[in-house]
Amino acid sequence: TKDTFILAIETSCDETAAAVVKNGREVLSNVISSQIELHKLYGGVVPEIASRKHIEKINQVIEEALDIANMTFQDMDAIGVTYGPGLVGALLVGVAEAKAISFATGKPLIGVHHIEGHVSANYIENKDLKPPFLCLIVSGGHTHLVLVKEYGNYEIIGKTRDDAAGEAFDKVARAIGLGYPGGPKIDKLSKEGNKKAITFPRASIVGAPYDFSFSGLKSAVLNHINTMEMKKEEVNRADIAAAFQDAVIDVLVTKTILAAKDYGMEKVAIAGGVAANSSLREAMEKECSNNGIRFYHPSPIYCTDNAAMIGAAAYYEYLRGARAGLDLNAVPNLKI
Ligand code: KG4
Ligand code: ZN
Repeated sequence: TKDTFILAIETSCDETAAAVVKNGREVLSNVISSQIELHKLYGGVVPEIASRKHIEKINQVIEEALDIANMTFQDMDAIGVTYGPGLVGALLVGVAEAKAISFATGKPLIGVHHIEGHVSANYIENKDLKPPFLCLIVSGGHTHLVLVKEYGNYEIIGKTRDDAAGEAFDKVARAIGLGYPGGPKIDKLSKEGNKKAITFPRASIVGAPYDFSFSGLKSAVLNHINTMEMKKEEVNRADIAAAFQDAVIDVLVTKTILAAKDYGMEKVAIAGGVAANSSLREAMEKECSNNGIRFYHPSPIYCTDNAAMIGAAAYYEYLRGARAGLDLNAVPNLKI
C-alpha cells in the first residue's frame, strides 16, 4: 500500500512548528521555533507578539521541516493545520499559511483540533496504541479527561472548573519567583524539596467525580507564603514546589484511575505540556500498574506544543475523509 505523507503546521500559542509525518506515526521531521525567551520578559505569552513572531518564522520553519525530511510540497498527500483552540492571531498565521500551500499545490487541507493533536502525540512512539483508551490532557490551557472511543471520536468525561493544571504550575512558579514557564522549573526544584513539609488541599467536586479544580490550591499556596512572610519565617521554595506538585499529581492520578475503572478502560494515556512532568509520569505509571492498566505517554518533546502531533491527528482525519475548504478559519474556542 502507498505511504501517506502529511505536512503539519502548528501556531496556536507560542511555538512556530512544522513537521512531516509518514502514515500518522513516523516523524520524518519536527521543527519547533520557540518564543519562550521573548515572552519570558513579560512573565507570560503576549498574544500580539506571538502573532508577529509566527509570521516572521513560519516559512523558514516549514522549509526546514521539508528539508530535513528530504521532501517537497509535491511529495505531500495533505496539509494539516491547527485551527483551534488557541490565540486567534496566532492560529490565523498557521491557517492562512496552510491555505496558501493547499491553494498553490492543490493538496487537500485538513483542519486539526489542538487537543486532538495532543492526544495523538501518543501514537508516535507507541505503535501498538489504538482506541479505545482514556486520555488525561493537561496543558497550559486545558485539563480534560477524554474517552477516545475510536480515531476522531471523543467524549469529554471530566474537565477543570477553573484553572488548567499547567496554569496552576505557572501561577505558583511566579509566586515563588521561578519565572515563566513554571512547569519545568517546579518539576526540577521539587526534587530538592520535602513534599510532606506542607499539606495543600486536594479539591473534589460533589456529583462530578472526574472534574478538577485548581484555583483553591493556588490560593492555598499564596496564603501559605503570606503567612510565612507575616510570621517572618523563612519561605522554603523547594518544599512549596514539592508539596504543590504532589497535590496536583495526587488529584490527577486519583481521578484518572477512578475514571478508567468506572469506564472499564484497560489503557490510559497522558498528553499536553504537564504530561512532561517526571513525577506525574512515575505516579501514573505506578497506579496504572497497581490496577492492571497499561500506561502510555509521549516523550517530553511531543508533550509540549509541536507539529508532529498535529500530523498524527491529521492522518486519521485524512483517512476518515475529513477535508477543509479554503474558507477554513481560526476558531479560538473550538470545542472537541
Ligand atoms: O501543551 P503546552 O505546551 O501548551 C498548551 O497547549 O497550553 O503546555 C504548556 C504548559 C505550561 O503551563 C507549562 O508550565 C507546562 O505545560 N509544563 C509543565 C512541564 N513542562 C511544561 N508542567 C509541569 N511539569 C513539566 N515538566
Ligand atoms: Zn498545547
